[in-house]
Amino acid sequence: MDNLEQLVAEAAAAFAAATELARLEDAKAAYLGKEGALTVLLKGLGKLPPEERKAAGAAINAAKARIEALLAERREALKAAQLAAQLEATALDVTLPGRGQPAGTHHPVMRTLERIEALFASIGFAVADGPEIETDWHNFTALNTPENHPARSMHDTFYLLDEQGRVRPDVLLRTHTSPVQIRTMLAHVEKYRHLDPLPEIRVICPGRVYRVDSDATHSPMFHQVEGLWVGENVSFADLKGVIVDFLRRFFESDDLQVRFRPSFFPFTEPSAEIDVAFMHGELKGRWLEIAGCGMVHPNVLRHGGIDPERYTGFAFGMGPDRLTMLRYGIHDLRLFFDGDLRFLSQFQ
Ligand code: PHE
Repeated sequence: MDNLEQLVAEAAAAFAAATELARLEDAKAAYLGKEGALTVLLKGLGKLPPEERKAAGAAINAAKARIEALLAERREALKAAQLAAQLEATALDVTLPGRGQPAGTHHPVMRTLERIEALFASIGFAVADGPEIETDWHNFTALNTPENHPARSMHDTFYLLDEQGRVRPDVLLRTHTSPVQIRTMLAHVEKYRHLDPLPEIRVICPGRVYRVDSDATHSPMFHQVEGLWVGENVSFADLKGVIVDFLRRFFESDDLQVRFRPSFFPFTEPSAEIDVAFMHGELKGRWLEIAGCGMVHPNVLRHGGIDPERYTGFAFGMGPDRLTMLRYGIHDLRLFFDGDLRFLSQFQ
């Protein structure tokens, strides 16, 4: 009977040593298979004297039952371990928040541009366009800006280089949207040359402009919206009316504080700068310049092919980036162009 005890102990050790199900089935064959130790013992019963058979059979069967139980137990343990390993390998944390599909939105400055376009469209202004790489003639000369005007200096204008790396005198990144005034007038006169009087010009020109400049209220690339209204009786009063009305509607406030300050631009006479006060937040009450404006200079009308004795006009160039600062109470314009999503996603 000691053999049987030993056999059970051996089987237990063999099963424990099997770390995979297939190995366990191999180990099983050695005890319970056709040639297994227990099968051999049972077969050998017939050779025992009849009086010993019963007890020996019972003992062998008891040992067999114990080995079968050990086998079943080990099998379950291995299956459970296999399942656990599988789950671990393909771990899925259902408590993690989903990744989602973040939806983009319009940039706050683009929203301002769309708002400006809609408000001016409602009083009959079309949208005109011009190139960002502009000729020196359109950007300066035609706008009555003399050769030695400071705006032409290397300090605030991005010039382009030729193949030899020399500054090209004829083209530059436009420093303002005012050259679109010239392009618009020339195209208009060309299109309507058979009409007298000339139909009115009423356009705004939104776009990017470039200057060598960078601080809280200036960035090297920024936006402008030019405005131009040319007709037979356009006056400074019209300019003031259009601008103030626009600003009140833009900021949805009738008590918006707006002021016109006398100023100078080579392409307008008289000229003014327009300031708007911050309405809320810690910046409340502080003035921010948002536009330059004035009556179109006769020389500019002439360069546009329009007779300054018959027609007058006003023009303005405003900064939609600054309008956006005022609208949302933002103190640094450069935030708009840093591309930081923590900032931009606040304008959903
Ligand atoms: N072009 C001027 C600037 O960029 C603004 C302006 C436009 C002033 C039209 C008067 C008329 O500063």
